[in-house]
Amino acid sequence: MAPGSGRTEPYPVFINTPTNPVLAYSCTETVFRIATWQIDPHVAQIVAVTGPGPTTDEVVDLVDELRQRGIRTLMTSALTAGDQEAFRLAGFIPYEHLLLLHRSLTVRDQSLFKRRNLLSPSGLRTQPVKVADRDALLTLDQQAFSHTSPLWQVDHDTLVEATRVTDEHRWRIVRRSRTNAGPAGHALTGRTGTTGFLQRIAVHPAAQKRGVGTALLADALRWLVRSGARHAFVNTQPDNLQARALYKRFGFTIRPDGLKVLRLNIERNS
Ligand SMILES: CC(C)(COP(=O)(O)OP(=O)(O)OC[C@H]1O[C@@H](n2cnc3c(N)ncnc32)[C@H](O)[C@@H]1OP(=O)(O)O)[C@@H](O)C(=O)NCCC(=O)NCCS
Repeated sequence: MAPGSGRTEPYPVFINTPTNPVLAYSCTETVFRIATWQIDPHVAQIVAVTGPGPTTDEVVDLVDELRQRGIRTLMTSALTAGDQEAFRLAGFIPYEHLLLLHRSLTVRDQSLFKRRNLLSPSGLRTQPVKVADRDALLTLDQQAFSHTSPLWQVDHDTLVEATRVTDEHRWRIVRRSRTNAGPAGHALTGRTGTTGFLQRIAVHPAAQKRGVGTALLADALRWLVRSGARHAFVNTQPDNLQARALYKRFGFTIRPDGLKVLRLNIERNS
C-alpha cells in the first residue's frame, strides 16, 4: 500500500501491486507506477503514486499508451470513492470491493496495546526482519494468501518496495520458536505524517490462532503511536472474518465507503 493520490484523503493503495517490471509514467502532476502481473503479463496494475489524482483525460491517455504496449487488462489499486471517479469515467468497472477500517490513536493507547500483547498467552515477541528472512517470509506470505484473489498476492520486489512508500516503516517478524528461527508471521506497517497504514500482515496457516497476529498488530500500533501517528488504516476483504475479528479486537471500525479495485478490458483495435 502507498499513500493514494490524495484527492479525498491520503490512503494506502499499493501493497497488492506486483512490481515486475515497473514502468513509471507521469502526466502533468501525477506519477503512476505500472506493473504487469507475474502470472499474466497482459494484465497491468496502475497505481497513482504521487501528485493529485489523475484526470479522466490523463487516464484515457495512459490506457492508450498501455494498449500499444500489449496490455489487455488494466487494474487499479484499491481506491477511495473520490479517487475512482476519473477511472470510472474512462470506462473502468468495479472488480473487487474492500473494507476500509480505521482506528484513532492516542498516546494513552500505548499501554492498551502493550497489555493486549501481554495477553497473548505465549508471550510472543516480534523482531526486525532481516534481509536473510525475506525469502522465507515471501513463502509464508504466499501460503497465507493462497486462497485469495491474485490482487492479494505479492512478490519479493513488491514487499520490499512497500517499505519505501511511506515516510517511515516497521517490518517485524515473529519466529516459530527459540530453536527454530523460521517465520511464524510478519507485519509491515508504514507511517506518513500522522497517518499509519497496516500494509501487510500474514501468519503461516499452521501458526494461526495462537496469538501471532495479535502480537504483530499490538507491536505495529504501539510503534505507530510512538512515531506520531494519530490514525491507523487497514483494508481487508469483506469475507476475511479472521482478519476482521483481529482488527475489531483492536478497536478498528469499518468506514462506510470502503475501497474498490477497478478493472478495464482494453480492446485490441480501439
Ligand atoms: C488474519 C491473521 C493475520 C490472524 O493471525 P492469527 O495469528 O491467527 O491471529 P491471533 O491468533 O492473534 O488471533 C486469532 C484468533 O485466535 C485466538 N487466539 C489468540 N491466541 C490464541 C491462543 N494462544 N490459543 C488459541 N487461540 C488463540 C484469538 O482470540 C483470535 O480468536 P478470534 O478470531 O475468535 O477473536 C491470519 O489469519 C492470516 O495470516 N490470515 C491470512 C492472511 C490475511 O488474511 N491477512 C490479513 C489481510 S488484511
